[in-house]
Amino acid sequence: MEKFNIAIDGPAGAGKSTIARLVAGNLGFVYVDTGAMYRAVTWKILDEGLGDEQTAEMIALTKRTDIRLTPGENGQTVFVDGRDVTGLIRSAEVTGNVSRVSSIGEIREVLTRKQKEMAAGKGVVMDGRDIGSHVLPNAEVKVFLTASVRIRAERRLREIADTQPDVSLEQLMQDIAERDRMDEQREVSPLKRAPDAVLIDTTEMTIPEVVDRILELCKSRI
Ligand code: C5P
Repeated sequence: MEKFNIAIDGPAGAGKSTIARLVAGNLGFVYVDTGAMYRAVTWKILDEGLGDEQTAEMIALTKRTDIRLTPGENGQTVFVDGRDVTGLIRSAEVTGNVSRVSSIGEIREVLTRKQKEMAAGKGVVMDGRDIGSHVLPNAEVKVFLTASVRIRAERRLREIADTQPDVSLEQLMQDIAERDRMDEQREVSPLKRAPDAVLIDTTEMTIPEVVDRILELCKSRI
């Protein structure tokens, strides 16, 4: 089969990374989690102790930071300047700061350039917020995954049950709604469904059902 690119966008916790990884595995394509890239930059900024107002320093730091994604046991292993930060980028602190960092236009430019390079050879399944609308506007298949806030919070609660047992469903629902609001309202490349993206509401779908639906789209579009 000829290689092509698949863009999967949607709000926090819609199941993008699980679905994107399975679709990529099924097609023998490379999975790229762009949220992990924004999280990696956010982790680095926090690790360097930069304050909210130090935007110029944040941009300079992003430009000189080496971010690498490699296929790992549970999806993707993320390296920042050679250090494995796969677990660290999922902390509550990074999650609480990532939308603020990702609203900075110059930081988006740096990461968007990297993402375009990663997809240049085709055969990539890329998930994020602005992939179909901005990063890969010519992706052959575009999907916008969504689900109700409650179901997204319930899924996230199950994911973090072992590592963050004190977090409540209500807290997660609030955090998710707030992150959606920030991602949708930012000026640069907001979370938005591309006009030609196929909307899939996963609220009442199982993971295999969603994967099959996307694989069908791939067959019919190519
Ligand atoms: O996908 P994940 O929830 O890990 O993404 C973390 C954050 O990174 C999002 O809430 C959003 O602020 C940012 N992001 C983005 N553009 C992307 C991917 C993620 O702004 N393409």
